[in-house]
Amino acid sequence: MKHYLQFSDLDASEYAYLFERAALIKRKFKSYEKHHTLSDRTLALIFEKASTRTRVSFEAGMYQMGGSVVHLTTGDSQLGRAEPIEDSAKVISRMVDLVMIRTFEQTKIESFAAHSRVPVINGLTNEFHPCQILADIFTYIEHRGSITGKTVAWVGDGNNMANSWLQASEILGFKVHVSTPRGYEIDQSIAGLRSSNSYEVFKDPMQACAGADLVTTDVWTSMGFEAENDARRKAFADWRVDADMMRAAHKDALFMHCLPAHRGEEVDADVIDGPQSVVWDEAENRMHAQKALMEYLLLGRQA
Ligand code: CP
Ligand code: NVA
Repeated sequence: MKHYLQFSDLDASEYAYLFERAALIKRKFKSYEKHHTLSDRTLALIFEKASTRTRVSFEAGMYQMGGSVVHLTTGDSQLGRAEPIEDSAKVISRMVDLVMIRTFEQTKIESFAAHSRVPVINGLTNEFHPCQILADIFTYIEHRGSITGKTVAWVGDGNNMANSWLQASEILGFKVHVSTPRGYEIDQSIAGLRSSNSYEVFKDPMQACAGADLVTTDVWTSMGFEAENDARRKAFADWRVDADMMRAAHKDALFMHCLPAHRGEEVDADVIDGPQSVVWDEAENRMHAQKALMEYLLLGRQA
């Protein structure tokens, strides 16, 4: 049994399979062809933080594959009344085939997985957001072909998205140029990297973007860190992705943002709504990529 708790839980050949499978699943979806490989399977969706894309993509995706979903939040389940995570895992995983969790600490999802009888998928933790990077790289491939050997500029917080990009760079063989304000740096041990070979740190976000094939950013304040909002707004003021940064990048560079976005904070409107932006494809591709992932975790490779 395989869990998907961080990007490094799968290897390059598994990703190559998933990207091809997601493309096939997407083509079938667009032509209204049924793809009921998960009929009679049930997915539990557990949300301890808010979500739009993750909920819709997993829920719609599971129904489209012939399965069904159960949706739980902290507020409407015993999770909010301190039932131990281990007990919740034992109970929930006896009744469903697959579990997706969005929560706070990575240790929490790891405890759940350790006591689960069924595969567990990380739908975002403080440390990682692997499903988003899965969709983002699928989106890159759709627009530009293989990401191997390319350069991704990460501008902003050294957060869950940054950590997952860094893990992906080690597995898929591309480079990440990271620029964060002081105090918000990435931490190689939290990111779970084998070495520092696949990334380079830049003080100046403009230099991180120079020659990049993809420029990407995220909110300045992630969920769970709202108390730091004012301090972060000040610290991140020079890390707004703007047209000058996009000009410094390769002329064919794409812009990505996992969304939700704050125009005028981490990105200017003319960038996110401009011609290099592929944010809507990224959001849509969450569903196609996760359908491939769920199928793989439950059924393995399909011929
Ligand atoms: N990008 C992303 O995970 O969006 P949601 O928070 O809306 O799920
Ligand atoms: N880094 C953001 C991503 C939201 C999808 C957060 O954790 O809130």
